[in-house]
Amino acid sequence: MAKSKALMPTFFISLNLIFLFSSVVTASYSKTISPTLLGFREEKLTHLHFYFHDIVAGPNPSMVIVAEPNGKAPNSLPFGTVVAMDDPLTEGPERDSKLVGTAQGIYTSISQNTPDDMGLMMVMTLAFSEGEFNGSTLCMMGRNMIMRYPVREMAIVGGTGAFRLARGHTEGKFHSVDFTTGDATVEYDVYVYHY
Ligand SMILES: *[C@@H]1O[C@H](CO)[C@@H](O)[C@H](O)[C@H]1NC(C)=O
Repeated sequence: MAKSKALMPTFFISLNLIFLFSSVVTASYSKTISPTLLGFREEKLTHLHFYFHDIVAGPNPSMVIVAEPNGKAPNSLPFGTVVAMDDPLTEGPERDSKLVGTAQGIYTSISQNTPDDMGLMMVMTLAFSEGEFNGSTLCMMGRNMIMRYPVREMAIVGGTGAFRLARGHTEGKFHSVDFTTGDATVEYDVYVYHY
């Protein structure tokens, strides 16, 4: 009886210390600030339009296969294939049209029904190098069912520079595709909310 009474003050002091400690820690690494401090005033919607070139064939491919499950040819992309890309983005559909940026990232073949219902999980950074958005990037992520849908929608999950706090979506469709070599030009419309 005497023993548990003696323990009570110790218990309350410990609780206070935990509370004090946690509030000090919280205050030291986060606080609420005004969005205007970072220049976030009015959100606007921007539409970007460009062509994406995934170059597989020839002496200067823009993609490289990182992992291949069955040692198949690069154009067939069997389920599980992982590809790294550094693909040019151009203003017009021709490969030598004005460069506006690059799409750097990875895509993975994610459909067990490849090649009939081939799907790619795209994880890429659209890095712009022209005009108003030079130096700004958008992060795009999503499933790209290239055989199932003529227009594939993917998510814009964030961005940097002019695209800080970006959110939106992309719509991609083949401008041209060569299923023998794997070369593809994709027309992209990107709709993005940012500040
Ligand atoms: C884009 O920005 C880079 C780095 O600031 C600069 O070197 C380059 O000239 C710019 N390009 C254009 C087309 O403005």
